[in-house]
Amino acid sequence: MRLSLALVGCGAMGSALLKGWLTLANSEQSFKNFWIVTPHRKSVEPFLEDSRVYWFPSPEGLPQPPEVIFFAVKPFLLEDILSSYKAFDSLMVSVVTGKSIAFYEKRLSPSHLIIRAMPNLPVGVHKGVIGLFTPACLSTKHKTFISTCLQNLGFCTWLKSEDEIDKITALSGSGPAYVYYFMEAFARSAESLGFTKEIAVQLALHTFWGASSYARDLDESPETTRQRVTSSKGTTAAALKILETGHLDHLIDTAVKAAYTRAKEIGHEKESL
Ligand SMILES: NC(=O)c1ccc[n+]([C@@H]2O[C@H](COP(=O)([O-])OP(=O)(O)OC[C@H]3O[C@@H](n4cnc5c(N)ncnc54)[C@H](OP(=O)(O)O)[C@@H]3O)[C@@H](O)[C@H]2O)c1
Repeated sequence: MRLSLALVGCGAMGSALLKGWLTLANSEQSFKNFWIVTPHRKSVEPFLEDSRVYWFPSPEGLPQPPEVIFFAVKPFLLEDILSSYKAFDSLMVSVVTGKSIAFYEKRLSPSHLIIRAMPNLPVGVHKGVIGLFTPACLSTKHKTFISTCLQNLGFCTWLKSEDEIDKITALSGSGPAYVYYFMEAFARSAESLGFTKEIAVQLALHTFWGASSYARDLDESPETTRQRVTSSKGTTAAALKILETGHLDHLIDTAVKAAYTRAKEIGHEKESL
């Protein structure tokens, strides 16, 4: 079956998903249409050369109910837009931070099938992390829809509760930005040692890319790999000692928990972000 999919919102996350779908090896066999509902055409323009992508400024123009609707708008917008989707019996997947299934059911109906998903930006290159939750019992058809849409975009995992969606938001949802922050610091350090900005950025990009690819291919934990590559009086040990003295692990833990708290707060805010 080739799916007709509507994507509501085509910003950072929506366009990462769309890029991921369009570039899958089996994209043509899996997806018939991508109906992108977003107020401005500009964010959809880069994708319009694919004949399956159409832009709609509002859901009223959709030619028929799509099999799946993805919501990728800012949380505060949902209150205004959800009622426009009430007539659709599509499988609804929301990647919106903080808004509970109960929130959707109240504005759509309790019989609507809603899945909360928390992807991250690397879904655009099929290397994402996607946490999923629904209290509903999915039919084989709906399980197939979800696996068609998300399975090949990265590591997918079903979660036990909505609370775990907030937790994974703080970990892998926001996680890429934490990594970019480490990369920035690493590149600045390379510059301070005399490398040009261009080379410094390449050193950061390739060191992080190589290290995570290498770790992923090994059958051991990152901790074991780190210990194995750190000789007791070597250069790596000298640097790691500084990170330990500065309690980097504690800082990371505190940062993740701040993001988790924020994910919960956002769900209750009327206007934010
Ligand atoms: N960014 C991430 O890394 C990430 C990760 C996981 C989850 N999320 C979640 O994904 C959601 C979107 O985040 P984002 O970073 O992609 O935000 P964003 O870049 O601001 O994108 C929001 C999109 O919503 C569109 N929009 C505004 N009003 C709309 C309406 N009435 N109907 C349909 N679309 C409308 C905007 O269109 P215009 O630009 O044309 O106004 C824009 O394309 C948020 O809930 C966020 O929590 C984001």
